Amino acid sequence: MTDLPATELSASTRLCAVLGHPIRHSASPAMQNAGIAALGLDWRYVAFDVHPDHLRQAIEGARAMRFVGLNLTVPHKLLAMDMVDALDETARQWGAVNTIRFEARMAGGEWRPVAAFGDEVPAEVRAVGFNTDADGLLRALREDLDFEPRGSRVVLLGAGGAGRVAALKLAAERAAQLFLLNRTRAKAEALATEISARYPKVKVEIGYPDARRVDLLLNATSLGLKRSDPIPMELTRLPLNQVDAVYDMVYRPAFTRLLEAARATGCRVANGLGMLLHQGTRALEVWTGRPAPAEAMRQALRRNVYGV
Ligand code: ATR
Repeated sequence: MTDLPATELSASTRLCAVLGHPIRHSASPAMQNAGIAALGLDWRYVAFDVHPDHLRQAIEGARAMRFVGLNLTVPHKLLAMDMVDALDETARQWGAVNTIRFEARMAGGEWRPVAAFGDEVPAEVRAVGFNTDADGLLRALREDLDFEPRGSRVVLLGAGGAGRVAALKLAAERAAQLFLLNRTRAKAEALATEISARYPKVKVEIGYPDARRVDLLLNATSLGLKRSDPIPMELTRLPLNQVDAVYDMVYRPAFTRLLEAARATGCRVANGLGMLLHQGTRALEVWTGRPAPAEAMRQALRRNVYGV
């Protein structure tokens, strides 16, 4: 499919942007502009390299210029928690903001998304923080692996920012048992404590599972980004023929060594492109209030990341 033609730039064109540091390799502009074009919106989505020291000013600038919204990526997601005027339940739940929606105050006091106004946006605008990462992961697990968390046994590799959100989301969706593995054991322990406090019905253990089947093995470490990276676990302690599905949050390269080994063993496999896609579809939905054109966005993303 060729991209739908974008509306012509004019003085009415509205902006959204992703802020990160670095940002040069972000696929979000390609993906979001395809979605915006498919919806026929007179918007553009751009990317800015913003140093963390300037994040507050950048958010203020976007507010002043009546941006529709922002996405935030590394290293801004935690910092932004204190820089928005209100937090949606999703941001509160996961303790991080990856999406900001600007909202304007109507004469009656009610807040409405800036996107809902034409050229006349009311003077008072607030920034509301959302988090679409957890929902994006869940959509991707369902769509790409046909995986349903409820009652499942999951092995999670990595207890950094991404691993934490994944573990908490799986617990919130009532996974039965989570096994956490992380190079720095103390971080896995802190995460296990948090899960047990928030979701006491979920069994959480540090370390490899017993010999029973595992429904999902999820890599949330950064291992795999480099071709020379080893598989982020010991295959002798968790043979892949004991695992039904493997999800690797890494999407570049398309097949990490972990995914190649899992595919060769016959596991269902998927890489992190679906999560990237669906944190994006969800963000576009937060801004527009309309279902996102996921297929147009997926194709643009694939083209941007893999050139196909
Ligand atoms: P992100 O936001 O992508 O999760 P992060 O918070 O820096 O980034 O987390 C990176 C994850 O990859 C962590 O689980 C990290 O393990 P540590 O908590 O021990 O740092 C893991 N990781 C990174 N490099 C690794 C390596 N060489 N071996 C094993 N794990 C690694």
